[in-house]
Amino acid sequence: MQPRLSHAAALSAMIEARTARVGILGLGYVGLPTAVHFAQAGFRVLGFEVDQARALAVNRGHSHVCDVPDEALRSLVEVRRLEATVRAERMAECEVLVICVPTPLTPAKQPDLSHVHQAVDSIARGARPGQLVILESTTYPGTTEEVVVPRLQAAGLAVGEEVFVAFAPERLDPGNPSRFRDIPKVVGGHTPTCTRLACQLYEHIVDRTVPVSSPTVAEMVKCYENVFRNVNIALVNELTLLCDRMELDVWEIIEAASTKPYGFMPFYPGPGVGGHCIPVDPYYLAAKAREYDFHVKFIEVAAQVNDSMPYYTCSKVVAALGRHGKSIHGARVLVLGATYKPDVPDVRESPALKVISLLRKRGAEVRYHDPYVREVTLPNPGSRLESVDLTDETLRSADCVVIATNHRCYDYPWIARSARLVVDTRNALRDVRSGNVVSL
Ligand SMILES: NC(=O)c1ccc[n+]([C@@H]2O[C@H](COP(=O)([O-])OP(=O)(O)OC[C@H]3O[C@@H](n4cnc5c(N)ncnc54)[C@H](O)[C@@H]3O)[C@@H](O)[C@H]2O)c1
Repeated sequence: MQPRLSHAAALSAMIEARTARVGILGLGYVGLPTAVHFAQAGFRVLGFEVDQARALAVNRGHSHVCDVPDEALRSLVEVRRLEATVRAERMAECEVLVICVPTPLTPAKQPDLSHVHQAVDSIARGARPGQLVILESTTYPGTTEEVVVPRLQAAGLAVGEEVFVAFAPERLDPGNPSRFRDIPKVVGGHTPTCTRLACQLYEHIVDRTVPVSSPTVAEMVKCYENVFRNVNIALVNELTLLCDRMELDVWEIIEAASTKPYGFMPFYPGPGVGGHCIPVDPYYLAAKAREYDFHVKFIEVAAQVNDSMPYYTCSKVVAALGRHGKSIHGARVLVLGATYKPDVPDVRESPALKVISLLRKRGAEVRYHDPYVREVTLPNPGSRLESVDLTDETLRSADCVVIATNHRCYDYPWIARSARLVVDTRNALRDVRSGNVVSL
């Protein structure tokens, strides 16, 4: 009689042969590309979604994520290599379950782990020996050990022997889909076997995995990466405020500093920070730190500076209009770009929306144009605005044009020529020398 394989050995063999079925929980900006990459690597993928319309769209081959073209999705759906479902009980069909659900903040900027709790509960309800559960959602150090592991143990499963758990942070760069494979994957398992299995899985879709000693270390790596970015953006934003006072061009300074061949990397100022990561994740770390009577001062300082940038942008517009003899009250302002970064359709936490709201509060008549976003809901008091057409007439009729997001598709020389006055928060007009342009 053949000796029975351990659960780990059996799972490893299935991962190697790509016969392990991969379930992805949450088919958003992270989950959908991940599902597509596993399916393209030869796995059968089942995507779990709580949003029925989203699941239906995926099954029709319609992608809502800019980095996943419809054709790529359709070709996988047609051969049933990728399927979306709202039926959580089908998780029992999967050997691998990857959690890619949102980790937002509460209105009081506290971590809101409700989606992670829900996702783990739905996994635990149908969990069986031989499954690998991986958390990819960004969260504070300790979540995997405190939330995922105990719920599987409570379901009667021995983690590390019967089921396997790891944290593997997502590091994707929206708008840059070609980089998916060459971004190394950090993996921290609950046990060395968990780490090994998770690395083995990811080696099918990325060129390099980086095993670390625990899920908590992997979680801290992700927090550190995002705090690093947040703090450095705050530093250059603060320098911008100083340069403004000293009448120096911060962009010229960054460009020259960037020529240093070691020990420096450029970050760029802007109207604030946005997206689902940079303004959110630092608060996850700060909340955890407080449990240890520790106050992460850099995070608080960075938030103060970055949060002030939409106000600073607004004051630049007021001053620029003033120099043209116009009051902000009743001025027609056209904001170009509503998204938090260029060339993506994502407006989450976008500083452009904050700038629009602040300008409206000061009495300006604000319109916006964004080729990626037809309509936006503004924060406080929550009114809606529709994107206008970008024409010579729209540009000429504005008292001030604010470049809030530097989409690549904009014809910047034309914008500079047609607009009476431009406040450029992204240095998009660096090559256009014109008296009507004010930089941040
Ligand atoms: N967007 C990014 O650039 C990025 C980069 C790195 C890491 N992350 C992290 O990845 C995670 C996901 O972010 P995202 O941008 O993909 O979010 P998203 O909002 O685009 O997608 C999340 C999806 O999960 C679904 N969902 C919520 N609860 C669910 C549940 N219990 N079961 C199944 N589906 C559920 C939602 O309906 C939504 O479709 C977050 O923790 C985020 O911080 C995001």
